[in-house]
Amino acid sequence: MTIRVCVFDAYGTLFDVAAAAREAAQEPGRETFAQHWLQIAANWRHKQLQYTWIRALAGAHADFWQVTQDGLDWALEAAGLADDRELRERLLALYWELSAYPEVPAMLAALKAGGFSTAILSNGSPDMLAGAVRSAGVGDVLDDVLSVQQVGVFKPHRSVYAMVSERFSCTPQEVLFVSSNCWDAMAGAGFGFVSVWVNRGAEPMDRLPWKPRAVLDDLTGIPELAVKF
Ligand code: LAC
Repeated sequence: MTIRVCVFDAYGTLFDVAAAAREAAQEPGRETFAQHWLQIAANWRHKQLQYTWIRALAGAHADFWQVTQDGLDWALEAAGLADDRELRERLLALYWELSAYPEVPAMLAALKAGGFSTAILSNGSPDMLAGAVRSAGVGDVLDDVLSVQQVGVFKPHRSVYAMVSERFSCTPQEVLFVSSNCWDAMAGAGFGFVSVWVNRGAEPMDRLPWKPRAVLDDLTGIPELAVKF
């Protein structure tokens, strides 16, 4: 079966989630934050994801924007920066205009030129994703942006992955699913997608019962894989 649709996770896969904290750390007057930004960014992301998993299991869905703020509040408090309200607002504002990884526009354009349908499948709320797509300038090379808001539960619930087959009238085996979150790539493989894990940080593979079909360092090789699979 050949690939017809290429679907991408958003945060950490197309958009650089650490960019908000990295940018804020470079701004004048943020010396304390600059010393701790790496740890804060890591905690922010980790708590954000943890809260999505817990909310999905507990049947307590919330907008991804809520979960993003909750994760940041935890990370700032852990760093002793809970009182810096201006820093909090700045980091949240930057989250709406995260930069895309440099290879993203050309990679998506190559897929479109090759006749593939392209989409985002993300925990992000539609307005957050619209902001990121706009600031990255990739709206023209995406056929759709699918948000979990449609099904009211976060990844890796199977109903999230099922949105793709429904939207594009295709089987899971016709979907190349690309995520930088190993658990997401694996759960997508469990659903039946041909999954690719983009492992930018050279992390160990998660211990879960499914395997991605391929592991890449970045997104450059995606058009080649889409043709090959
Ligand atoms: C997303 C998160 C998991 O975009 O990165 O869905």
